Amino acid sequence: MVDRSSYLVVGADSLVGGGLLRALERRGRTAYGTTRRRDSVTHRRVFLDFESEEPFTAPPDVGYAFVVAAATNYDRCETDPLAYKINVELTPRTIASLLKQGLFVTFISTNSVFGGERPWPQEDDAHDPKISYALQKHRSELAIGKAAGELEAEDRLSIVRLTKILDPSTSPLASWFRAWRCGEAVQPFSDLIFAPMSIQFVGEALATLGEKRVPGTLHLSGADNVSYVDLALALVEKLGVDSSLIAPTTATAKGIHIAFKPRFSGLGMNRTTQLTGIRPQKLADVVNDLTVDA
Ligand SMILES: NC(=O)c1ccc[n+]([C@@H]2O[C@H](COP(=O)([O-])OP(=O)(O)OC[C@H]3O[C@@H](n4cnc5c(N)ncnc54)[C@H](OP(=O)(O)O)[C@@H]3O)[C@@H](O)[C@H]2O)c1
Repeated sequence: MVDRSSYLVVGADSLVGGGLLRALERRGRTAYGTTRRRDSVTHRRVFLDFESEEPFTAPPDVGYAFVVAAATNYDRCETDPLAYKINVELTPRTIASLLKQGLFVTFISTNSVFGGERPWPQEDDAHDPKISYALQKHRSELAIGKAAGELEAEDRLSIVRLTKILDPSTSPLASWFRAWRCGEAVQPFSDLIFAPMSIQFVGEALATLGEKRVPGTLHLSGADNVSYVDLALALVEKLGVDSSLIAPTTATAKGIHIAFKPRFSGLGMNRTTQLTGIRPQKLADVVNDLTVDA
């Protein structure tokens, strides 16, 4: 019998895919990543483009796939019909094919499906998507659930929604770190709320979900709804930088249009914690991870 203990990460070149692959490798798991950059294909980096008509067959030793890749740019989702097609038609088609191949599949979705007006929505709460990206992810979830139902594969499907993920290179953090090194002030927004998590936390938590094989809807979230000013203050405290190098402002004052401006960003994790023991990530731990190499 073929050993199917290996993992596949669809979207190896994404922020989340990269963090997940590192976590799986740290745990000694065999993991393949997919790329649509043909010139970078290797034994462990296999070609997969949702837009390609070439059928995709997972390597024979893979028993679990994480589908991370997506059209993620908010502006593109508003204007480019191809983004809609990738998120709502082609991704569910690929997931149906992976389920038919007998794999357990995790689809990565987003907190934005809840619309941001309700605090701490739980895993099975109703959606209220307000921007095209969120609406596309919502429709994608529905299409994937329908495909799993038709294939009688609901026990091999999970949908994992995430809040905002940070690594030190995520905008605007890289420019903050650079400014503070030069003794310059930064201008974080007080009117932009999020519930951040570190990429290390997300990679490890997804790898745990992959080991536990929990079907159904799950959430990974930061434990705190904070503004970018709150995050900047926590970072300067940790780094020993003078807090006068924070000059709070607002997106409104700067005339910057923000497509998704939720009042509440954090996700309730009751079901996820009950079934897996994973808890929301505290802001102090996010800051520790972001400053580990500083
Ligand atoms: N980042 C966050 O804060 C956040 C928060 C909540 C949920 N999520 C969800 O988490 C997932 C990953 O997000 P991310 O920020 O890590 O993504 P990302 O860095 O923006 O990367 C998206 C990836 O998708 C790939 N891709 C796009 N279209 C494709 C296609 N047609 N075929 C194959 N691959 C395609 C891209 O390939 P190329 O590199 O070749 O362009 C890219 O590597 C997404 O589903 C997103 O909705 C992210």
